[in-house]
Amino acid sequence: MKTDPPPAKSEQLRRHLVELLLDELAPHAQLPTERSLAEEFSVSRLTVRRVLDQLEREGRVYRIQGSGTFVSEPRIRKSVELTSFSEDMRSRGLRPGSLEVSSERVPAGADTGYALQISPSSLVLHIRRVRTADDEPMCLEHSYLPAGLVPDDLSPEELHGSVYEVLSARYGLVLHRAEQTIKATVLDPDDARALDAPPFSPAFLVQRIGFDHRGRAIERADSLYRGDRYSYQLTIYRDP
Ligand code: GLP
Repeated sequence: MKTDPPPAKSEQLRRHLVELLLDELAPHAQLPTERSLAEEFSVSRLTVRRVLDQLEREGRVYRIQGSGTFVSEPRIRKSVELTSFSEDMRSRGLRPGSLEVSSERVPAGADTGYALQISPSSLVLHIRRVRTADDEPMCLEHSYLPAGLVPDDLSPEELHGSVYEVLSARYGLVLHRAEQTIKATVLDPDDARALDAPPFSPAFLVQRIGFDHRGRAIERADSLYRGDRYSYQLTIYRDP
């Protein structure tokens, strides 16, 4: 029987470090020194540095000159499925929440009207929320729902929780499909303050138009995610 050759030492070191990062070390804990890793894995310091460079590029560790290498805050991986913010956070063992919640009925305007297939003068319910995970701000969300489909105002408790759950339970509105665009951007100072992040730091802008089974547009949303805490993961297939 043919067996695979053992992985190169640098790959063994990489795997060992990834396991340490995933299972043992807390965010901001210090990694073993380059010298001790080089000795333990019988590799050169240069090899250790290359492996650490790679982990730094992947955002798994960060370095402070003269001090060492430390574990980064984990990114929340968002797989591209049609889920709500609350579902995303719960599936990662985090408690979803909302801060700075407001809602008002306003005319849709040209862009939102076009997206929702209603006239620009039709009213929409505009909901603005800072979405949190374990109380930490993650995402600033503007959601626009056609007032014709959502005739009542949502209570403060409902706005703090899952809007998708309310739409489903109260109006039978369930998202079936969405057109979604993800763009790179930076946080302007107001958005950065709301997200407790440095001004002009990187962010993802996720723009979604959601449709129900009947093909009605039921939501247009702009969600601004902190770039330091989010990554998007795709499972992609190739035809056989
Ligand atoms: C995601 C979507 C938004 C949607 C939100 C609803 O963040 N990008 O378009 O408004 O989920 O989340 P929840 O049901 O937790 O309020």
